[in-house]
Amino acid sequence: METTRPRQYWDDHASRFKNRSLAETYELRPPYPDETYRILLSLLGESRGRVLDVGCGPGKIARGLVKHIEGVDAVDFSQEMIRIGKTLINGDHPNLRWINGPVEEVQLYPPYSMVTAGASIHWMEWDVVFLRFKEVLTTDGYLVIIDEDRPIEAPWHDAELSLIHKYSTNRHHENIDLIQELVDRGHLHLIGDKRTAPMRFSQSLTDYVQSFHSRESMSKEHMGQKMSVPLMPNYHRSCLTLLTMMDTSVSN
Ligand SMILES: C[S@@+](CC[C@H](N)C(=O)[O-])C[C@H]1O[C@@H](n2cnc3c(N)ncnc32)[C@H](O)[C@@H]1O
Repeated sequence: METTRPRQYWDDHASRFKNRSLAETYELRPPYPDETYRILLSLLGESRGRVLDVGCGPGKIARGLVKHIEGVDAVDFSQEMIRIGKTLINGDHPNLRWINGPVEEVQLYPPYSMVTAGASIHWMEWDVVFLRFKEVLTTDGYLVIIDEDRPIEAPWHDAELSLIHKYSTNRHHENIDLIQELVDRGHLHLIGDKRTAPMRFSQSLTDYVQSFHSRESMSKEHMGQKMSVPLMPNYHRSCLTLLTMMDTSVSN
């Protein structure tokens, strides 16, 4: 099937998540705020039914919900992400079923009271998955798209962005308002939009820099030796300079 998604989201980029190095650096990304899970649980209401988490990665959403609801089916086409997710907190919960394969094709076990997609919907085949979600959701179920795990108004933002532009290996990148794009294409009927309060998160500068390698445009495999070796010291130094100047909570 020929995709109609914007070029930057095509499978040649999406499939990078299957690489071990992306999965191994994924935990260095910041967690979602607790409020995210409270919002999801409130949307589920009294029923606390079953959830389908698509493009689950190591299960940030799925593992955070599973103790509070009937069960979660967590789907990802990256074996590596699932392998790591299984070792993390609640990764072996009896009500969490890991399903390895493309969400467009794998066997699902409906009905689901909610479908969650954390930083993942853009990578999927929209003409297929939205119809699938409709089929597997209960009539009063929601699809919830969760996004943004980046610093807010970081003082180093502009310097960081110029480094990302310089070293990104996704040369098709354009700024797209994803939700608006999905609404315009008729895939989504938007019922609501919630933004959590920002949360404090601290990590070492090295971990912060490494966390970029969990993003497809900066995967170690694709940056290769030639790019990643010079990148690290430069990147490190620029961030460090800015951080020192601004005295932020990220430590080295
Ligand atoms: C950025 S990660 C998000 C992980 C997690 N949902 C979170 O919120 O942290 C995107 C994940 O979507 C998965 N993915 C992308 N396209 C997929 C598809 N068509 N079927 C299943 N998984 C997919 C990738 O393997 C990757 O683990």
